[in-house]
Amino acid sequence: MADELSRRTVLGLGAAGVAFGATGATVGEPSQTAEPGDIPSGIVLVNAASREGQDLSGAWRYSIDPYRDGISGFHGAAAGFGHRRYEDHDVEAVARANPAALIEYDMQRSSVAQLPAAWLTHDPALRHFVGLMWYQRAFTHTPSRARRAFIRVEAANYRSSVYLNGAFIGTHEGGFTPYSLEVTDFLRQGANQITIGVDSEPSPDTVPPPVTDWENYGGITRPVRLVLTPETFVDDAWIRLTRDGRIAASVRLDGPRAVRTRVRLSIDALDWTVEGRTNDLGELEGAFDAPHALELWSPENPRLYSVRVEAGADTLEDQIGFRTVRVEGENILLNGEPIFLRGVCLHEEEIGADPGRIMTSAAIADLLKAAKDGLGCNFVRLAHYPHSEAMTRMADKIGLLVWSEMPVYWRINWGNPATRTAARRMQAENIRRDRNRASIIFWSLANETPQGEERNAFLKTLAADARSLDDTRLITAALLTERRDRNGRPLVVINDPLADLLDVLGVNTYNGWYSDDALADLPDISWRSDYGKPMIFSEFGADAKAGFHDASAMRKFSEEFQAEFHRNTLAMSARIPFLRGLSPWILKDFRSPRRQHPVYQNGWNRKGLMSETGARKQAFEVIAAYYRSLANGPR
Ligand code: GCU
Repeated sequence: MADELSRRTVLGLGAAGVAFGATGATVGEPSQTAEPGDIPSGIVLVNAASREGQDLSGAWRYSIDPYRDGISGFHGAAAGFGHRRYEDHDVEAVARANPAALIEYDMQRSSVAQLPAAWLTHDPALRHFVGLMWYQRAFTHTPSRARRAFIRVEAANYRSSVYLNGAFIGTHEGGFTPYSLEVTDFLRQGANQITIGVDSEPSPDTVPPPVTDWENYGGITRPVRLVLTPETFVDDAWIRLTRDGRIAASVRLDGPRAVRTRVRLSIDALDWTVEGRTNDLGELEGAFDAPHALELWSPENPRLYSVRVEAGADTLEDQIGFRTVRVEGENILLNGEPIFLRGVCLHEEEIGADPGRIMTSAAIADLLKAAKDGLGCNFVRLAHYPHSEAMTRMADKIGLLVWSEMPVYWRINWGNPATRTAARRMQAENIRRDRNRASIIFWSLANETPQGEERNAFLKTLAADARSLDDTRLITAALLTERRDRNGRPLVVINDPLADLLDVLGVNTYNGWYSDDALADLPDISWRSDYGKPMIFSEFGADAKAGFHDASAMRKFSEEFQAEFHRNTLAMSARIPFLRGLSPWILKDFRSPRRQHPVYQNGWNRKGLMSETGARKQAFEVIAAYYRSLANGPR
């Protein structure tokens, strides 16, 4: 063992080699390209949760590594044996066998956490920890007919690397989209040990950048799964209703028999079956007449069908809704009918006094029912990053339209090709994961990004990618606006080259909160857009500490001020002829380290219509009453 130890120490290499990249680039990532190049691709494993395998949620050991010794030594060489948490051994057994061994960690004797959950839930001392955390657990793999195996991480924030039985498998950048790494050659029958290193530290090159207005929530925040597949399997299957009323299918097989293989699509409830054959790339593109009995999906009738895709030895079944969405002039048409979006914004954070981004089905249901049943919403803006697949599947099920968003937020490093590649890959991962979700009608490119040539070019690439990946949905973004005066009266103008690329203009408005407008003057503010496109108020809000009252409604942070803010903003919105939706910021108070007023905030952004524990503020009813008045027909 000593020789083994010294050899590895001298070589400075474990079985793994280097994992995390020191800069924006990471192992296995394409080099920084001058031109946008192709849309990043990779294993999709669409609807992975429906496949054979194991959900590895539950008890994991964790070990903090603030100086990243598990990645590289203090002189920058590869990590020393005594720090490599991912080694395939039991530290105590090694120490007993080699008393001279110097190992400065012991995963098997480290503290236990229940995953998925952000690490601020593990220990109060970790509340503001930003850095590298190691997680490890054992699991038993029993013999299976499956021929291939993948580790799928639904989300780990922000950069993560996966090791199986001591071997480095792969790494991923991005805290909100899934990735799947093949482990077929590393998985053992019987006992296995998985280790994941998660580094939450943002940088000016990350997406999002360091400064946001929400809690970073470092850690493994969505499930990790072992997914098993046949040797050749359906990696991607996107089945949708086209705007000309046909059912289109894009299917991609992965494996040695992907080429020229027969694929069958079935919807038993409609007695509908079609077939095709993959091409020389293992892909099938087809469009077929839709069955006459097809019921369209809508918030009022969230009809989902079980759609089965069969190819060779693989069968994949998913619950899919069929609907169309498009823009006609300044109208948004759902299934050919104009619709007004009665929405609300959400962060990915459960209701409760001490949230940890533990988004169980019950937590998601609480949020979406408060929106749909409480406020009367038909729409939710899932800000400011892709939420979980469980969230979008539940929106499909209960009938809520969805704005899905990229974490391209505020000051992105637009000129860095690695940042652009990271954003493009995150967007492709999000769209490929969710484009079977009928509830999603918008892919949002960005939020409140300052104009500039590099920013315009960056977002032009993202817009082109989104349209290439999905020609059935609408592209939007939350834009900044210009404030002017027209004949002495306040005028807000939309004037952003990004608007030319969008189908729907999102605008965040905070007149009366971040401006010195008197609330009573808000209805007098006019809006101008020369784009001839529908606009939605993608944010508007004011802070209120639940229970803090000021009868005059003049005092910011009081419930009365917040309610008055919403009444007057709604009155202003009613005068905008091209407005087609409202999404107040935000359903509930949420953690934000930027908000530190010791009485009213204490690390919470209090623009919620409810408190963090779900206590409804006066503004909740202001919005609900307005939506009830709208629900009786378009404005
Ligand atoms: C901005 C931003 C939000 C933020 C909000 C606020 O519009 O998009 O992320 O939380 O305003 O200031 O509360």
